Amino acid sequence: MKNPDWSQLTFGYYPTDYNVRCEYKDGKWGELQLSQDTNINIHMASSCLHYGQEAFEGLKAFRGKDGKIRLFRPEENARRLADSAHGIMMAEFPVEKFLEAVKMVVKANEHFVPPYESGASLYIRPLLIGVGPLVGVKPASEYMFLVFVTPVGPYFKDGFKPTPMAIMRGYDRAAPLGTGTIKVGGNYAASLKPGHIAHEKGYSAVLFLDAKEKKYLDECGPANFFGIKNNTYITPDSPSILPSITNKSLCQIAEDLGMKVERRHIPVEELETFEEAGACGTAAVISPILRVDDLDENKSYVFSKDGKAGPISTKMYETLRGIQYGDVEDKHGWVTIIE
Ligand code: PLP
Ligand code: COI
Repeated sequence: MKNPDWSQLTFGYYPTDYNVRCEYKDGKWGELQLSQDTNINIHMASSCLHYGQEAFEGLKAFRGKDGKIRLFRPEENARRLADSAHGIMMAEFPVEKFLEAVKMVVKANEHFVPPYESGASLYIRPLLIGVGPLVGVKPASEYMFLVFVTPVGPYFKDGFKPTPMAIMRGYDRAAPLGTGTIKVGGNYAASLKPGHIAHEKGYSAVLFLDAKEKKYLDECGPANFFGIKNNTYITPDSPSILPSITNKSLCQIAEDLGMKVERRHIPVEELETFEEAGACGTAAVISPILRVDDLDENKSYVFSKDGKAGPISTKMYETLRGIQYGDVEDKHGWVTIIE
């Protein structure tokens, strides 16, 4: 497969050469297999198809100025996939095997890791699915793990340029005691319709509120929310959001930059008081928020008057990207270099 035009990459699927697969049968995982087949052959009665018994992950590989390929905190993704597996009764994919599979798939597709100058990266998508014939609502006894890669540009089309987001109380992404804290397909299915409506209205994402009281901020579509004021990084504490690895890293970076960090409920009205706000995640990196329109209350909260990202979000973005690409010292040991 040939290389794409790196500068034109969006967050889309671009075919690469190999994926890695592994099967769970008779109570144990088999060997990792390198495959060139982009299709999978599974039984039509598989639990992943009918009952959403599937979980996925998302991480990236970055090529540094030195030409080396770096992974950012892959063991965190491995652990989160294990949490997701427990959450919906799937066989856990071992952390060490996950790391081995990720390294194997990146190495096999090495020439798809975009060059340093492009600012693009290689998105890595591990997937765990329940397979085998099953009709009753119960966990499968067979599973498939697979991981593919695709080179990507920015998730929100404007990259680091602030975009507007919308609050819409008519939709929830996940319930407080539901599956919001794990990365399972059903959460994303629930977000498709509100996401589509928001896009149609010109917003880059929905800023979901807590499903129970509709009082507090939850998360921004496929990314966590943060706000900044008084030299403090503030991010929601909620039982229905995904524990973002990017957000956890930004909390540390904020501390390293001499800021205070608060993880707590954030009432909607507090948006009024933030100097800067953003969405963060592997795909989103930091996507600054231009404005939040509360479509039910007919109210707008503006975070950027000149259409540019604020100084603190910019500094945090540069630090995070700097660590990921090897330009800023990795003092917390977050980076794994692929040899
Ligand atoms: N929230 C949701 C719903 C997501 O899908 C993601 C993406 O993985 C995130 C937050 C960000 O998490 P992370 O920083 O681990 O990619
Ligand atoms: C990620 O940031 O890795 C995500 O999973 C977001 C999205 C594309 C689902």
